[in-house]
Amino acid sequence: MFNESDYSFARYLSSKKSVDDRSLNRCVWGKLRSVIASEYSKKTLKILEIGAGIGTMFERSIDWGLFNRAHYTAIDAMLDNVSEAKARIPGWAYNVGYCVKEIADSELKLSGSGTDVALKLEAGDFFEFARVEQAASTWDLIIANAFLDLVDVRKTLPITMNLLKPGGLLYFTINFDGATIIEPEIDAEFDALVERLYHQTMDSRITDGSISGDSKTGRHFFEVARKNGLEILEAGSSDWAVFAGKDGYREDEGYFLHFIIHTMYLALRDRPELDRKRFKNWIEKRHAQVEDRELVYIAHQLDFLCRKPDASGSENQL
Ligand SMILES: C[S@@+](CC[C@H](N)C(=O)[O-])C[C@H]1O[C@@H](n2cnc3c(N)ncnc32)[C@H](O)[C@@H]1O
Repeated sequence: MFNESDYSFARYLSSKKSVDDRSLNRCVWGKLRSVIASEYSKKTLKILEIGAGIGTMFERSIDWGLFNRAHYTAIDAMLDNVSEAKARIPGWAYNVGYCVKEIADSELKLSGSGTDVALKLEAGDFFEFARVEQAASTWDLIIANAFLDLVDVRKTLPITMNLLKPGGLLYFTINFDGATIIEPEIDAEFDALVERLYHQTMDSRITDGSISGDSKTGRHFFEVARKNGLEILEAGSSDWAVFAGKDGYREDEGYFLHFIIHTMYLALRDRPELDRKRFKNWIEKRHAQVEDRELVYIAHQLDFLCRKPDASGSENQL
């Protein structure tokens, strides 16, 4: 079992990597790969990742062969995450066979096996970054993984689109969509109350004085995309499904589950609708279910690949 001080967001993001690896929708990913292969094979892709955390999506995009040549900028608001990215990426790159060079402070160059990628790690707020960029439409591809459900999508999407070149791509993945399933059941009614209140905390989150976050980001994104003139090239579910096999949970996924349960505890411990003692007991039972390798966790999510219309207003075709 973990103490309060054992919970580290950077370790959570690291433990989430194998969960995301299994969950990312392969049709959406396949479409992204095929568009990049047909339209950008001879170009150096300019990529921006928003809320990039410790850099796991960057690692994945190289591991899964998304591009060979790119300038990749990864921005995250938490300095600790960016420091962890700087610490882990050189070792990861070396282990998977790339030559890594630091070309400037917070800039790495990866080369080898036909790959030539410059990575810039930036600590800062995306909205401030976008303001400074002054809607410069210079990016070919903008990625955000497990980010969009934390912000006001209606405000964020136009700001993000302004940074994209006409015809550019948006790859928005692991967008939460209204279902948190935890098994085995403890008490059906109480379990459902906890789920409902937990989702309410996502809907009423305030950041910098404004509502940000939506527990149904996935389903709502279809309409927000349409209103902003985005073409959805592909969409599909990317549900997390975490369970123990005969050897227990994979990789660090036991930690991932403890972290999720602890997050629920922090979000709901002061809610008057929940009897304090009963809720604490519920949380303890959930942690014990993880220790006993019994707990199954499913979160419903959706992935999207979209294209900004080109200058003439028509969409690029493959
Ligand atoms: C759930 S985490 C996902 C991190 C990473 N994309 C991943 O999947 O491992 C969301 C991330 O968004 C970052 N974030 C939240 N608001 C941000 C903002 N306004 N600008 C930049 N990063 C932000 C957080 O610091 C956090 O690392």
